Amino acid sequence: MSDKNRIYLFDTTLRDGEQSPGVSLNADEKVEIAQQLARLGVDIIEAGFPIASPGDFAAVKKIADTVKGPVIAGLCRAVKGDIDRTWEALKGAETPRIHTFLATSDIHLKYKLKMSREEVLNQAVEAVRYAKTFCPDVEFSAEDASRSDLDFLAQIVSAVIDAGATVVNLPDTVGYAVPDEFGQFIRTIMEKVPNIDRAILSIHCHDDLGMAVANSLAGILNGARQVETAVNGIGERAGNASLEEIIMALYTRKVFYGKEVNVNYREIYRTSRLVSNLTGMSIQPNKAIVGKNAFAHESGIHQDGVLKERSTYEIMSPELVGLNRSNLVLGKHSGRHAFKERLAELGFVLNDAEFDQAFSDFKEIADKKKEVTDDDLEALIKDYIWKVPERFSLAYLHISSGTTVVPMATVKLSIEGIVFEAAATGDGPVEAACRAVDKITDIYGKMHSYKLNAVSGGKDALGEVISRIEINGIMYNGRGLSTDIIEASVKSYINAINKHFYAEQRQREIQDQ
Ligand code: KIV
Ligand code: ZN
Repeated sequence: MSDKNRIYLFDTTLRDGEQSPGVSLNADEKVEIAQQLARLGVDIIEAGFPIASPGDFAAVKKIADTVKGPVIAGLCRAVKGDIDRTWEALKGAETPRIHTFLATSDIHLKYKLKMSREEVLNQAVEAVRYAKTFCPDVEFSAEDASRSDLDFLAQIVSAVIDAGATVVNLPDTVGYAVPDEFGQFIRTIMEKVPNIDRAILSIHCHDDLGMAVANSLAGILNGARQVETAVNGIGERAGNASLEEIIMALYTRKVFYGKEVNVNYREIYRTSRLVSNLTGMSIQPNKAIVGKNAFAHESGIHQDGVLKERSTYEIMSPELVGLNRSNLVLGKHSGRHAFKERLAELGFVLNDAEFDQAFSDFKEIADKKKEVTDDDLEALIKDYIWKVPERFSLAYLHISSGTTVVPMATVKLSIEGIVFEAAATGDGPVEAACRAVDKITDIYGKMHSYKLNAVSGGKDALGEVISRIEINGIMYNGRGLSTDIIEASVKSYINAINKHFYAEQRQREIQDQ
């Protein structure tokens, strides 16, 4: 496939995706996602918005300094201070890109920026020129491009290319466009901008009307060569175009689109799971490509068809996206070898110490459950993904609860080998146990959300609790796993407290340096 038919994947999960209401990732979690995106093979990772907060700055810097392979981009407004700060975060990257933006629609000019078109044009050009003094690769985004005056937009696109922009992005910022119109819009800009061949035209579509992927594909058909996406379609409001849907649409309908991306398809499912686990944003079962039901055939007629010939009802193979389910179930008699083989088939690589710990956790679960399924194993291994050193670990939990008694919990926590005990009451057993934890740790968390998933079917299913806990104004995701849902809840709360404890400790270490 010629270079002209190559589509560049720009992933903004860590920037626009992190703007999803309720999502907040710490620097280590962002690095972990960036590393997985590099494994998947996206071309550009937008690592964050460095001026937004010291935490954002630190995360972009860490990704720039450590993640190799993709271009690392940082977002900034079209002003010097933002550009300086972004460059400061990005400069350690193998291949950095400064991504600067300014709105171009009259509605934004009049009400938000209170600027004339001429002022916006000058500011955009100056910002690109200034960014170029640091970095050869500069992307300019015309915010709200799809609602901008076409002649003015063409003028600004041409001017920023003359100023040195290597990529010009035309976002459908508010998700207002529809496919035919958006395709025509991209075609018109391609035709109206005389120097467009000196830059890559990019698109960035939001999903307010559920058309982000369709609009992006229409843009690609009409000349866009970079597409901006987020894993699982997360992002501001209704989200961004979903990375996995764009990849698989281009792959499955290659003859129609005639375009290609350069990714490791088998990493798609794992990337989706990682982002869902770390953001705490679960994936709807019917979500295309990565939803639990995306490859499940329920109707007898469909099952019969697939058994006879897969292509009757399957347009993509689940194995291609890395969904490698097996009917083999492990149990308490399974040995280290079978356990290791299955983990490898599921794509998990653990170091020796992690493997020993995971095997002993597996045995503990296998003692309580007859069959340990792939879903159970995935849930168990998530403990290593969510890993944080355990300052506080649960040593004992006793609950008394019922319809006519005040729920009461007794909790013992081990702190550096010493066991501390406290008891508390609450509106329910989970609240009682969390209050007892607070008494021991002297850290007071506020629970913002609480999600309980049954990892696999059956009465002995493992319960997985994902909670979002606010401590001193900062949000932490906590995760706990157990066949006992109260224990899973308390473990999830303690996981968030451990994250807080180590985040504070890191902060103190940085200040002392
Ligand atoms: O939606 C949007 O316009 C954006 C830009 C900052 C690229 O996210
Ligand atoms: Zn956006």
